[in-house]
Amino acid sequence: MYFSKSLYFAAIHLAWYASACQSCEGMNKLERRQEATDFSYLGLTGPVDWLQFEGTCGKGKQQSPINVVSTMKVSSLGDSGEYPDIGATGYNFTNTGRTVEVFYKGPKATLGGVDYELQRFHFHTPSEHRLDDEWFPMELHFVHSAVADPTKLAVVGIFIDTSEENKSDPLMARLAKLLPSIDNKGDTTIATYVPLGGARTAITNAKKFTYSGSLTTPPCTEGVTWYVSNTVLDISVADYKAFKRVLGYNSRNLQADPGKQNIVEFAAQFVTGGQAAPEKRSFAAKRFSA
Ligand SMILES: *[C@@H]1O[C@H](CO)[C@@H](O)[C@H](O)[C@H]1NC(C)=O
Ligand SMILES: *[C@@H]1O[C@H](CO)[C@@H](O)[C@H](O)[C@H]1NC(C)=O
Repeated sequence: MYFSKSLYFAAIHLAWYASACQSCEGMNKLERRQEATDFSYLGLTGPVDWLQFEGTCGKGKQQSPINVVSTMKVSSLGDSGEYPDIGATGYNFTNTGRTVEVFYKGPKATLGGVDYELQRFHFHTPSEHRLDDEWFPMELHFVHSAVADPTKLAVVGIFIDTSEENKSDPLMARLAKLLPSIDNKGDTTIATYVPLGGARTAITNAKKFTYSGSLTTPPCTEGVTWYVSNTVLDISVADYKAFKRVLGYNSRNLQADPGKQNIVEFAAQFVTGGQAAPEKRSFAAKRFSA
């Protein structure tokens, strides 16, 4: 009984590998990589698979997001992100299929003494970073590139939490109203009249923990300077649900602390020749059949 069950599991695994190989045989590495350009947050194209991209997702030692701890370095005084409220002209607000993003380009920010230009801002549910091990329902990312060298990126992360008073920061309230018009991937509307006071405060007048990390989506490029604010924006339960419905789950799993071994590379040492070590699998099978 015991043995036949583990044989049964072994057979399933063999069949699975056989079919997996049939579908990838004849595909060269580049083709597989191009196919995987359609990354996701789910299953076989989810974050564990991102190592097959040209980039550092599965190798880098400065990957984001991380657990931010309040003993980390705090960014210098004098930071500012004086983004004017968005007025009547507006900016594209697009459902990219992976997030919803406002292409608000141009406002200036100074972070750690470096001058930046805002490129865009977007959202994740749940938060990607954690703060002293706590995660939040959402996280807002303001993405900047340096004025002197546009390849140098700085991202400000702002946590968003549900409000006990059932109130939304005006930025969240306004965008939540526009969300139904960008329900599907590829949809764009114009975001007009977006108040940015809450975000300005969370950047200019708040403590921000800083570290050198990466993009949280492929190709997971490193050298991104992160500023994670300890000022949290409010969202009402209704507005949160509106975002959650459109975003689904779009949060990369937590990465190792800066400088530590990449978690995918670490896990790969238990995998031989591209296949999971069979004895570990049958051990698991035995455990479940017991
Ligand atoms: C805004 O979105 C429209 C429609 O998708 C697109 O054609 C246009 O290029 C976008 N403009 C900018 C500045 O991104
Ligand atoms: C929260 O606000 C929404 C929208 O204004 C309202 O429909 C709902 O009843 C409120 N809930 C509570 C608990 O006050």
